[in-house]
Amino acid sequence: MDVASGGKAASASYSITCTECGHEAPQNFKAPLCNRCGGLLTIEISLEGAGAKGWRTGQPGVWRYRPLLPVARETEPVSLGEGGTPLLKSQRLQEKFGIKNLYVKYEGTNPTGSFKDRGMTVGVTRALELKERVVACASTGNTSASLAAYAARAGLRAVVLIPSGGVGKGKLTQAAAAGAHIIEVEGAFDDAIKLLLDSAGGSGVYVLNSVNPFRIEGQKTVAFEVCEQLGRAPDNFVLPVGNAGNISAAWKGFSELEKLGVIDSAPRMIGVQASGASPIAEAVSKGSQSIGEVRNPQTVASAIRIGKPVSWKKALQAISESKGTAVAVEDEEIIRAQGLLSTLEGIFVEPASAAPVAALRRLLETKAIDRDELTVCVATGHGLKDPESPICEVRAKRMGADAASLKKALDEITSRPSGPSSN
Ligand SMILES: Cc1ncc(COP(=O)(O)O)c(C=O)c1O
Ligand SMILES: [Zn+2]
Repeated sequence: MDVASGGKAASASYSITCTECGHEAPQNFKAPLCNRCGGLLTIEISLEGAGAKGWRTGQPGVWRYRPLLPVARETEPVSLGEGGTPLLKSQRLQEKFGIKNLYVKYEGTNPTGSFKDRGMTVGVTRALELKERVVACASTGNTSASLAAYAARAGLRAVVLIPSGGVGKGKLTQAAAAGAHIIEVEGAFDDAIKLLLDSAGGSGVYVLNSVNPFRIEGQKTVAFEVCEQLGRAPDNFVLPVGNAGNISAAWKGFSELEKLGVIDSAPRMIGVQASGASPIAEAVSKGSQSIGEVRNPQTVASAIRIGKPVSWKKALQAISESKGTAVAVEDEEIIRAQGLLSTLEGIFVEPASAAPVAALRRLLETKAIDRDELTVCVATGHGLKDPESPICEVRAKRMGADAASLKKALDEITSRPSGPSSN
């Protein structure tokens, strides 16, 4: 078996089952939700073949973990080189927050600039296995950018439904450049995804939102990578939560490694939402087993401007099983954290991706995390995605093209106390 090279032979056997009624869907199942009860689907990977040694291959990125991914042996993945993102020890942020062991997992370095590529490489590969021609998603922006790129790479047509207004310019530019059909729905993201899920059956399109369990399988690889990079599991894994697919995906990854005996224990999963769109954080703070819908969600972090997360049940399960939590942060805190990531560490992220760092102070104060613990904040998307964020304002100083003017400008700069530059 070609395990060491990550070649085609290394693939997992799996079943597609409903998380609500337990019904097992046929292997060629195409619908986004259970056709018996409308519940969320999940993929149960057979871990037997992998074992504590055979779960990874010699190649970098998402497909390194092919032995734990649901693809047929003969399948050639649709790849743009996703995964393999840096895990950055963040000394200066540590000092800022008084933490000893803080890392940022910089998912903005994925091919289209967000973690969505991890899921999309597996999802679009699955679309080809099913001989689909048209793939579709509803999106706050990053999913559409990713879907458009992977569909182009696979020779498929992409349809993206976006909410009216508020989608980061960079993200829409990416979808347009890759030739996606862009449909603006008169409403919010929650309206767009409901519309797509309700009309998916018989529409001839393959839905690649994160309800698609193949997307989740790709996204779980962030957990594998972090454990490999650290040589252990973190104590806390903090990530922004919108539709709640990613927190469930990462939890699935850590759980699989724990079952395989690769890690001794899994981290606490800590979800962060914006206070204007925080149904999961509200449910956790009330100790409730279900969420209330937030109508007309509002936040500067457009990627997580979601009032009714489709995967809320999986997220609450991940949080309770891992003994984690969920918190909400204010927009001003998000923007401040976005600035800190950029100016203290050189890690440029879009607003939603700064939410975990924005939550650190509160998590320490409430003792949800401890200063000595190893905490990983996931920076889910690149800063260029959303150039309208306040921190992206360019304040250039104008001067004449002569040596005296330059000297004067440089004298002013060099006489300042050291620290990050700001005009
Ligand atoms: C940059 C960014 N961060 C976080 C999220 C939230 O991920 P999820 O919807 O899986 O909870 C998204 C989703 O669009 C995103 O684009
Ligand atoms: Zn079901």
